[in-house]
Amino acid sequence: MSDQPALRAVIKGTGSALPRTKVSNAELAAKVDTSDDWIVERTGIHFRHIAEDDETTSSLATEAAAKALVAAGMEATDVDLIVLATATPDQTFPATATIVQDNLGCNGCVAFDVAAVCSGFLYALSVAESMIRAGSAKNALVIGAETFSRILDWEDRATCVLFGDGAGAIVLSGEIGTKGVLSTRLHADGAHNQLLYVDGGAGTTGTVGKLRMKGREVFRHAVVNLSSVLHEALAEASIPVEEVDWIVPHQANERILDATAKKLKLPKEKVIKTVDQHANTSAASVPLALDTAVTDGRVKEGDLLVLEAMGGGFTWGASVVRF
Ligand code: UT7
Repeated sequence: MSDQPALRAVIKGTGSALPRTKVSNAELAAKVDTSDDWIVERTGIHFRHIAEDDETTSSLATEAAAKALVAAGMEATDVDLIVLATATPDQTFPATATIVQDNLGCNGCVAFDVAAVCSGFLYALSVAESMIRAGSAKNALVIGAETFSRILDWEDRATCVLFGDGAGAIVLSGEIGTKGVLSTRLHADGAHNQLLYVDGGAGTTGTVGKLRMKGREVFRHAVVNLSSVLHEALAEASIPVEEVDWIVPHQANERILDATAKKLKLPKEKVIKTVDQHANTSAASVPLALDTAVTDGRVKEGDLLVLEAMGGGFTWGASVVRF
């Protein structure tokens, strides 16, 4: 039962990082056949941050991770595991997690990447918390970091207006108590992998590739899958939906956030929304939203959170966390 003390992975600190350049819808509309009205009405997005040449997935991840360590009151040398979720690694290999490890100076600990696109952070969280509960790690950095601007087709107005760059990180530590990750449910269904994909990459095609999406179909699946996995994760933790303080969702589209809240019969005010400022940052969006809400004082110690995401694959998942 979730209210009994047990060894759990507890969030000890959060951090995030955004590229210097913030681009408004109006600025985009000067280059792409779109408008501020269309983007705001269909998605709720007003701004996104876009990486400059000197800003990479690993540099954003390093900044977010360093801030999370400060918030946790820890040194990099306290970390024995780094799990980094990304679909836009700096290079095909080595894993971006090892670049972050070297930047931070905690060489020698376990470090690897997880690829589950927009659900990547939920997958990474699940791997790290399982390793902590199994006793093979004590203090983990779990990071979501992306530079999707580099895989966007800037001629495709149906996708290029939707995404942004950024990173978010948490420090997870094993502690006996009632706080921490209470349950996680993950899913994947490869039957839908042609609805959201990159048409190249990973050395197999000799091209980096660009993001392709059938947005309307993804939208339809997202609302159904997210509300169902949220119910599964809450049921596994034996927690009624009314007890949830905050939903911290993947930030793809304000209409998905509203529709999911409605399906769960949760007031919209309980949903952390950052899509207006950051757009869709894929694996970075959940930890970025969490850090934003921790920093502005909405999420407080003891709050019951549900983190959730859905993305390419399809992959989707939810995690119930006592903060
Ligand atoms: O992170 C992974 C998960 N991803 C998602 O969850 C994304 C899910 N999908 C969505 O958020 C929405 O489907 C979109 C925001 C991508 C699109 O919204 P929509 O209401 O489904 O619009 P649509 O794609 O059906 O397009 C409607 C119209 C089309 O014009 P016609 O055919 O009706 O004349 C598009 O050509 O809007 C047009 N359109 C645009 N117009 C101005 C598409 N993109 C734009 C644009 N600016 N940027």
